[in-house]
Amino acid sequence: MGKIVILTGAGISAESGLGTFRDEGGLWSQHRIEDVATPEGFARNPELVQGFYNTRRTHAAKASPNAAHMALALLQREWPDEVVIVTQNVDGLHEAGGAEDVLHMHGTLAGALCSACRHRWQAPEEMRVGQPCPACQEPTARPDVVWFGEMPYFMDQIYVHLAECELFAAIGTSGQVYPAAAFVHEALAVGAQTFELNLEPSDVVSAFDETRFGPATETVPRWVSDLMGTR
Ligand code: APR
Repeated sequence: MGKIVILTGAGISAESGLGTFRDEGGLWSQHRIEDVATPEGFARNPELVQGFYNTRRTHAAKASPNAAHMALALLQREWPDEVVIVTQNVDGLHEAGGAEDVLHMHGTLAGALCSACRHRWQAPEEMRVGQPCPACQEPTARPDVVWFGEMPYFMDQIYVHLAECELFAAIGTSGQVYPAAAFVHEALAVGAQTFELNLEPSDVVSAFDETRFGPATETVPRWVSDLMGTR
């Protein structure tokens, strides 16, 4: 059996109606990363950045988990060993689908962060520029989302999980952003079996033992059912 580590990306939430980044018409074809997903962009135009995340927060709050999110929550409940879900996504659909202890390495839309004192709190649906931090009252509230150039969250824990895993799966991610795209190599280094479940081959597809292509709502439930059959 053994410990399972799963990395998910925007593709697992695509069928819940949330946009991915690099697909046709994706978020990065509508906005420049440097304008809405960097500390420099936030400093330059905080209204634009708060507006970008307010829109994504509203969409995410209206979205429902899909069969792929549910299947991973089932696996986490039924698998005889630990199942750790690491996500690059900032939506809350894994949790809404029943998953627990999800590691959001790029932060969450639901979170707000004070860039002065690092206090964190539940973000309102609409964050305003200059909103005072509830702890230090400084007007330095920002979305608690990890921007390019910033250190992802939970990295120490993630590397420990990868060092202990016997099975690693990457689901719905293009494998273009590091450090997440290199997690498969950490898993291979400890002899884990590796799976890629994606709509199309990712940039790191050659690193995986097994690949299953198609929409996550089809491939993930089938993969979980196959795994459960091996218990
Ligand atoms: N089912 C499965 N996979 C899908 C589906 C679907 N229905 N729709 C799209 N995909 C796949 C695409 O083929 C693509 O490989 O999901 C992947 C989405 O890739 P990206 O848009 O690059 O998203 P992601 O890999 O999560 O991006 C990583 O980049 O911009 C940063 O912080 C952002 O967390 C994000 C990170």
